[in-house]
Amino acid sequence: MNSESIVVGLDVGTTKICVVVGEVTDEGIDILAVGTFPSTGMRKGVVISIESTVESVREAVEEAESRAGVEIRAVYVGIAGGHIKGFKSYGATGIKGKEVTPLDIERVIDSAKAVYVPLDREVLHVIPTEFILDGQDGIRDPTGMIGGRLEVKVHIITGTVTSVQNLLKCCEKAGLEVIDIVFEPLASAEATLTHDEKELGVALIDMGGGTTDIVLYKDGWLRHTSVLAIGGNHLTSDVAVGLRIPVSEAERIKKSFGSAAAGMVSESEEIDISQIGGQLRRIPRRYLSEIIQPRCEELLELIKGELNACSGYDIAASGVVLTGGASLLNGLDRMTETILGLPVRTGVPENGGKRLISPLEGDINSPIYATGVGLVLYGSETESNRVFLPDLFTGIFGRMKGWVMGIFR
Ligand SMILES: Nc1ncnc2c1ncn2[C@@H]1O[C@H](COP(=O)(O)OP(=O)(O)OP(=O)(O)O)[C@@H](O)[C@H]1O
Ligand SMILES: [Mg+2]
Repeated sequence: MNSESIVVGLDVGTTKICVVVGEVTDEGIDILAVGTFPSTGMRKGVVISIESTVESVREAVEEAESRAGVEIRAVYVGIAGGHIKGFKSYGATGIKGKEVTPLDIERVIDSAKAVYVPLDREVLHVIPTEFILDGQDGIRDPTGMIGGRLEVKVHIITGTVTSVQNLLKCCEKAGLEVIDIVFEPLASAEATLTHDEKELGVALIDMGGGTTDIVLYKDGWLRHTSVLAIGGNHLTSDVAVGLRIPVSEAERIKKSFGSAAAGMVSESEEIDISQIGGQLRRIPRRYLSEIIQPRCEELLELIKGELNACSGYDIAASGVVLTGGASLLNGLDRMTETILGLPVRTGVPENGGKRLISPLEGDINSPIYATGVGLVLYGSETESNRVFLPDLFTGIFGRMKGWVMGIFR
């Protein structure tokens, strides 16, 4: 196997670290193996303990290595957390009536990057959302077109320098080179959204353990990003506090018996729960859902507010795609449909926009692995895109990495 053809995604999540190994072939991408390990050093999507995170990353990498039979050296790592902010910018350049070249595109995007970014923030992505040539808008790729003035609208995604540094430090200590840092829901979108959904307009909502990320696409372009610092772990703590049981037990019963809507649960059904001292207690299953329901409603109302604030309802014409483990809660999809008033489907990385050679089998074919598989797809796409927008994917990160690595020396 040629090591050049191996692309590895590292999803450093709040609840689990996940390493996905893919092989890029002429027919498409083959997912060779996945390694996972519980994450204990993260909170709300950001590193709070380097030591624990490094340990978990090492374990997940080892598992993936032994399953795939390859040595993992370099990864595309996902980043999340409430510190991530997206905003729009605009750039323009003169073409002098000639054909637009890749260099012109690079130049116009460079001009859009010339905006004030606070010193404590680092640019992670500069994503073009539309090119305009001599007033003609909606252009996807102006290369080769003739015009006098090229304009671009871009979406800039930034994160706090300290969060980025800590994530990089964990990778470095785990012996991994980071090729690029990718905002996680962009990766999840790669793995789950169809071409048609991105064209017509769609909201991808990744409900993880510590964060809920929202990204919106329309006409094939990214339109909006936001992060809410609330996720499935909040439901688990509510259950633990409400029933006075250990967090591990709360997590177990939430997954096995929890429901987003108490009305879905029969009044007579009972479940056994293990209390803090270890004794068993029998409670109506409905109690559990009565605790969970208000938090689900709160999360969905927050998402609705976010969609209202960013014209999400005008954008997401084809509806909502849910990813992330928290979206697996029984009845949450239907509740999302009711509260948001949009059609909802669960996004699994089954064919990754038709780029995966074979459908994923077993546990991997779950919304939990959308980010990890998406990082591999993003990585393989980035490799082939380097000629077209070089500075977008390598330049920014290259600079940042040089700077951050400088601190480690
Ligand atoms: N079957 C299930 N029912 C309900 N909740 C579930 C289920 N399976 C997983 N979860 C919840 O999903 C969450 C973990 O999801 P995921 O693996 O996507 O998070 P993460 O990537 O580790 O976190 P983040 O993306 O927020 O950093 C946990 O809160 C877990 O309780
Ligand atoms: Mg996640």
